Order: sequence, then C-alpha cells, then structure tokens
Amino acid sequence: MQSIVISGTGLYTPTESISNEELIASYNAYAARYNTENAVAIDQGEISALEASSVGFVEKASGIKSRYVMNKEGVLDINRMCPSLPERSDDEPSIMCEMAVAAAKQALQRAGKTAADIDAVICAASNMQRAYPAMAVEIQNALGITGYAYDMNVACSSATFGIQAAVGALQSGQARAVLVVNPEITSGHLNWRDRDSHFIFGDACTAVIVELAEHATSAHQFEILAMKLKTQFSNNIRNNFGFLNRGDETGIGQADKLFRQQGRKVFKEVCPMAAEMISNTVHSAKLKIEEIQRFWLHQANLNMNLLIARLILGRDATPEESPTILDRYANTSSAGSIIAFHQHQDDLAKNAIGVICSFGAGYSIGCVVVRKK
Ligand code: COA
Repeated sequence: MQSIVISGTGLYTPTESISNEELIASYNAYAARYNTENAVAIDQGEISALEASSVGFVEKASGIKSRYVMNKEGVLDINRMCPSLPERSDDEPSIMCEMAVAAAKQALQRAGKTAADIDAVICAASNMQRAYPAMAVEIQNALGITGYAYDMNVACSSATFGIQAAVGALQSGQARAVLVVNPEITSGHLNWRDRDSHFIFGDACTAVIVELAEHATSAHQFEILAMKLKTQFSNNIRNNFGFLNRGDETGIGQADKLFRQQGRKVFKEVCPMAAEMISNTVHSAKLKIEEIQRFWLHQANLNMNLLIARLILGRDATPEESPTILDRYANTSSAGSIIAFHQHQDDLAKNAIGVICSFGAGYSIGCVVVRKK
C-alpha cells in the first residue's frame, strides 16, 4: 500500500456571528409573540404555549457559546428566522462554491500545491445548495483544476468519508492529489423556531489536500495510518427535505423538512459507537490508545466529547488532548472535526499520533488515525 498524507488544511469562517444572548433574545421574543397571538387557543388547551429558551441551559447542555452564520440579520429577525441569502444568477459563483474556494486556497497554500497538482475535487457536505451541476464541478472550475469532481453527502461524517474516497482515488491511480471540501451552511436547514435545537448549528467550510506521500513537500504532513467507516440506519437525526416534496403539497413547509433530532437518544447511542470505532481503528493501526496524543472529535456537543474521551481513556481528556472548537463555532456538521484538526495541529511534535473522528446522522461514523511527519 502506498503511503498517503493529508498535506494541507484550510478553513473559511463567515464574518458574522451570533452569541447565545442574541440568539435567545430573538427566540424568546418570537415565543412571547406566539403566545400572545395564540392566547385563546392556549387557554382552551388546544395548543401548548412555547416555553422560553435560556443561555444557561444551552451552555450547560451543549457547551456552545456562539456560532458563525452566513447571514445574521435574517436568522435573528423574528418575522423570518432563517438566513437571508438572495438567489444569484447562474453566471455568478454559488455561495457554497465561494466558501469552498476560500478554504481550498488556504489548504493548497499550506500543502505547497497549485491547482495543476490536483486531479480530483470532492465536495462532501450535509446539504448541497442545488441538485446539479455538482457543487464540486463548479468548485473545480473556479479553482482551475483539471481531472474530475463530484459531490457526496454522509451528513456530519461527510469529511472523513470524503477523505476515504480520496484515499481510494490515490490508491487506484486515478489521482496524485485530491482536494476534499466541506462547505456547511447549516443555518439553512436548522429550524430556528425549535427551542430544543435552535442553538445547535453554525456555518463554516473546511478543506483538506490528500496526496501520495511521494509527491508531498509541505511542512504540515500527516500520514494516514488507518481508517474505518461505519453506518447504521437511524431516524433519530432526520431531514425530509427533498426533490419529491412537491409531490405532496400538504408536506411543504412542515417542520420535518428541516433538521430534527431525538437529542437524548442520539447522545446515548452515538457516544459508545464512536468510542468503539476509535478504539478499533487505533488497534487496526497496531497502536495502543495510550499512544494517541490528540483526538480531533466531531464538534456537536461538549458533553458528548467528554464522555467519548472517558469511554476511550478511562479518565478525562485534557483540553489539549481533545480540543474544543464548538464553543465558538457550534456544530458545523462535517466541518467540525476538521476545524479542530486545522486549528490544533501545529503544536504537535514529529511522529505524534492523533485521531480524527466524525459522527452524526445516518448514523455515520468515520475515524482516521494519522501520524505527524
Ligand atoms: N432552553 C431551556 N430549556 C430547554 C431548552 C432550551 N433551549 N431546550 C430544552 N430544554 C429543556 C427541556 O424542555 C427539558 O425540560 P424538562 O426536563 O422539564 O422536560 C430539559 O431542558 C432537558 O431537555 P433535553 O432535550 O432532554 O436536553 P438534553 O440534556 O438532552 O440536551 C441536547 C439537549 C440536544 C443538547 C443533547 O441531547 C445533545 O446534544 N444531543 C446530541 C445530539 C447532537 O448534538 N446531534 C447533532 C448531530 S450529531
């Protein structure tokens, strides 16, 4: 098997952010107005009043303090409660393409590569902003990359599954280097009117260059030692938005066409699965858990990450061992573990070993064990 490395990473962070205080003030204003407007029906027991959201709950239950978004005004406007993102003409770059190009340029620069060195682009994300042409082909064109490009979606695990697809392309001789991008506009599918989940997500885009070690020259190389992917069907995280929606007008605009989850069940079921996957992947690389210096975990919920680390290590991980970015970024879906990897890798010594682990809807879990070169 040829040696393969991740040789560069990039991150695009939107310029606008929303603090918990701002988000919850908006939600509570919406809930108060809803309760006033529906006072009679609520009094007669026909519908339930909306309860207030709270900063204290959000920070304790999730560890999230703020999130970046592509449009703040539309999200906070209680008459709208979704991002305001005007449609563009077919001749303009799409929003996902712009985010991906920004992250990709940083990844290329860190990898010491140009477009001419890349043979394939994979756009791996939870949502694509249109059906076709594939986002990846537009991104490929914008960067001036030849070869081929395609989209894939494995929800929050899209990035690790995308890295596996890149490794396959390298091993089969289809490419010398592959760009994997993860543009996540989660604000577009979050139900900002749902108290149970309105605080969960944020927007961002990550990029990684995966290439044959023999061609790699960068100072930021991580050799891939082992990878494992797993999926197991679950309805506990689900979004029914899709191209068949117009086949039944009664469903259009309903809450099931946005993100929804059984948060408690997800927490209980996914943590042990992720911990087991990490252990199995580490062991498949003939390594012991004690040899892992860093865990770049999916960034959905701080308590989930604390529990996963305890299950693996039998003790609490230090903040250095399991870095947190969700406090500022919230859950950026597939970008989360890669943001952690991007922001918390330069301090590692040569030969340090780490694990990237994503988990989410599907369920889907992806683990990548890497060694710093
Ligand atoms: N503000 C204040 N209180 C809230 C609230 C909010 N925004 N949302 C829920 N609550 C209340 C509930 O009504 C409930 O009250 P009760 O005990 O009186 O019934 C209480 O807080 C606990 O609610 P629960 O939904 O059980 O909270 P939780 O501790 O499970 O935390 C999540 C909720 C979503 C943070 C947590 O389940 C989670 O993170 N799960 C992981 C799933 C995930 O992140 N998935 C993303 C894709 S990977």
